Amino acid sequence: MKAKILSILRETDGYISGQQLCEKFHVSRTAVWKVIEQLKAEGYQIEAVRNRGYHLEKSPDVMWPAEIESLLDTEWAGRNVLYFSEADSTNTRAKRLGEEGAVHGTLIVAERQTEGKGRRGRRWESPSGSSIYMSILLRPDVLPNQAPMLTLVMAQSVTEAVRRTTGQEALIKWPNDIVVNGKKVCGILTEMSTEMEWINYIVIGVGINVNTENFPSELAETATSLYLENGEKHCRAPLIAEIMKQFEKDYEMFLRIGDLSGMQERYNRLLVNRGREVRVLEPGDTCEGQAIGINETGELLIRTGNGETRAVYAGEVSVRGIYGYV
Ligand code: BTN
Repeated sequence: MKAKILSILRETDGYISGQQLCEKFHVSRTAVWKVIEQLKAEGYQIEAVRNRGYHLEKSPDVMWPAEIESLLDTEWAGRNVLYFSEADSTNTRAKRLGEEGAVHGTLIVAERQTEGKGRRGRRWESPSGSSIYMSILLRPDVLPNQAPMLTLVMAQSVTEAVRRTTGQEALIKWPNDIVVNGKKVCGILTEMSTEMEWINYIVIGVGINVNTENFPSELAETATSLYLENGEKHCRAPLIAEIMKQFEKDYEMFLRIGDLSGMQERYNRLLVNRGREVRVLEPGDTCEGQAIGINETGELLIRTGNGETRAVYAGEVSVRGIYGYV
């Protein structure tokens, strides 16, 4: 009921009376009043005016389930939200829930991670209060070799959601970083549990630097936050809800088609590497050339010095611009 009351308060331009809320939920005035008091105690600024009702003036920047649920516009993505004020890693939690049978679309969110994981065995620094750490659990009916494409689907969904909610020109650094003004604001880590022919579950973890004010010196050159790029603080739950909405759409298209051809053009338009000289470091191999874009299976096409076009598989690669981070 809390999430629903929050949604109604948000949708209502002026005031909604206690009576209307009681009738909507078939509960007593006292029950409604209690929820309103609880919301106020949690930091929601709700104005209560005699004979008019309630009006939501401001929401706190929290990622609690009721806040996220009240903003969601999805069928399944994020419909089961679990929140932790502290978790080892939301990916680890999501995998555990995957083993225990949690439903497709379950979303795990943490305020802080003690063992945040990055790609290629790195750590993901995860202090509290300013970032998004979340993982979505998926049970797709695709072959294990199609699963890595989902990382690219998520990268595109996050990029578009960031653009819509903050107005910033986020771009994708293939395969799974998101950059603003050439610095990284988001990283994505996909993990899965598979058998030979099928997938038990996939976990896609997303870390976004939203309101971070400074970074340790070793990261300051390449990392940034949405706040640092335009001086505006952003509430995190609306961004999460927007990502879920966009991801649900993009994911369903991916499943219908079976590859990325339905979004390839959009992805390539958002690709920061496109047209740039890049160096791709694969385990045991290095390749340099001009990035052209992705193909329909998500490989990065690179035109090398001798005029050949090479398709690089995302896997464990690292991509760097020849002249800098992008
Ligand atoms: C990278 O760029 O190296 C990927 C970083 C992924 C970080 C996110 S934060 C939420 C989820 N939980 C983790 O432990 N990692 C991912």
